[in-house]
Amino acid sequence: MAESTSTSDYTIPKICPAIFLTGSSNVNRLVVQERTVPDLPTDKIMVEIKACGLNFKEMMERMGIPGTASNKSKPPYVMGFEGSGIIVQIGSEVKSEHIKIGNRVCVVGSEVWSKYTILDPKFCFPIPDNMTFEEAAAFPVVYLTAYMMLFQQANLQPGMSVLIHMVAGGVGTAAVQLCRSVSDVTIFGTCSAAKHERMKEMGVDHLIDYRTQDYAQEIKRISPRGVDIILEPLGGPDFKKSYDLLDQLGHIISFGFANAVTGDKMSYFTMAKNWLQWKNVNSMAMMQENRTVSGYHLLYVSLSRMDKVMCALKQLNLLYKDGKIKPLIDSVHGFSQIGTAVARMNSRQNIGKIVIVPEETTTGGNDEGTSDVSKWKNPEEDTPTKSRI
Ligand SMILES: NC(=O)c1ccc[n+]([C@@H]2O[C@H](COP(=O)([O-])OP(=O)(O)OC[C@H]3O[C@@H](n4cnc5c(N)ncnc54)[C@H](OP(=O)(O)O)[C@@H]3O)[C@@H](O)[C@H]2O)c1
Repeated sequence: MAESTSTSDYTIPKICPAIFLTGSSNVNRLVVQERTVPDLPTDKIMVEIKACGLNFKEMMERMGIPGTASNKSKPPYVMGFEGSGIIVQIGSEVKSEHIKIGNRVCVVGSEVWSKYTILDPKFCFPIPDNMTFEEAAAFPVVYLTAYMMLFQQANLQPGMSVLIHMVAGGVGTAAVQLCRSVSDVTIFGTCSAAKHERMKEMGVDHLIDYRTQDYAQEIKRISPRGVDIILEPLGGPDFKKSYDLLDQLGHIISFGFANAVTGDKMSYFTMAKNWLQWKNVNSMAMMQENRTVSGYHLLYVSLSRMDKVMCALKQLNLLYKDGKIKPLIDSVHGFSQIGTAVARMNSRQNIGKIVIVPEETTTGGNDEGTSDVSKWKNPEEDTPTKSRI
């Protein structure tokens, strides 16, 4: 048993389990290892992590796709961008009303996939009493992203129409719930056919299987004028294809480059091909077409416009309390099943958010030393710690 130091009622161990990114480029691996719990700087807090969110970003980061690393240093480093837990230690310089030992929080930062982690108090947010840690881990990134795009950028109003690409994923399902909180919004969504029934139940009006149908033709057929708002996370040729679906005075928001991912390894060819097909629109054309283009990235917003983030969080908490939004959790996996969790997203099976939780046992789990998804355990055969809710 490792030696411990005590703070308040909490005993903080000297070592704890964490998920490390090891290797470099497209041979990266995710491995559960013990780490030394770092000393607390005076301006930071320590959180005991209870659950973590898996984001598309981490899948790209694991492949070594440029611009996705959450850590300035080279691997090995601890992964993870969001989670939830309990504040167990507070640096002497931290003065904030909502930062108290024992408070339940959701967090955004780096090195979150660790049973104990050090965080900036600015990015730790109190959660409602009835929100579970798993829900809280599935909350900040996708709901802030969806909320800020729909309400702060695109000014979603009753009666509008919205196209949500990747509608069955984390951001997609959050966006559907937020659209449903406004009256008379028509939702178009693209995702794999196997997810259509569940998405229909959630309130998507028109579902398109982008693998077998041309979504642009289908949307034009249903709504010849096009749509008012488009959330565009694909990039490459899909940006212009989506832009051309905007109605007059419509607004498209570019917020991802999912087309950079094909298979389980980074492909410079795929990235270059999509990059070259990513047509920009010029402002003269936008003026004459009465259309708006904007971009969104939470990582940068959160640093520079915390007022907007806090305003969004306040509204999101109210919507949660009113029962209008609730994170849709696809599955919950222990740290040692990280390979299964990533393979599930990579093979496009998740509906909603994948959550991972630290386990009592500390080591042993990894992505089985292979970047070949077919060699990972089939997620359908896997028994997650909890099944879909
Ligand atoms: N800018 C920001 O601040 C920000 C923040 C969060 C997320 N994002 C972006 O938003 C998008 C969604 O992120 P998320 O974390 O919520 O993930 P997610 O939607 O849960 O991602 C997984 C799903 O995406 C779909 N998909 C589409 N293309 C894919 C591909 N090339 N490889 C694997 N799956 C693909 C698959 O479902 P179907 O095939 O059924 O559609 C898959 O199940 C990503 O592009 C992400 O980078 C941006």
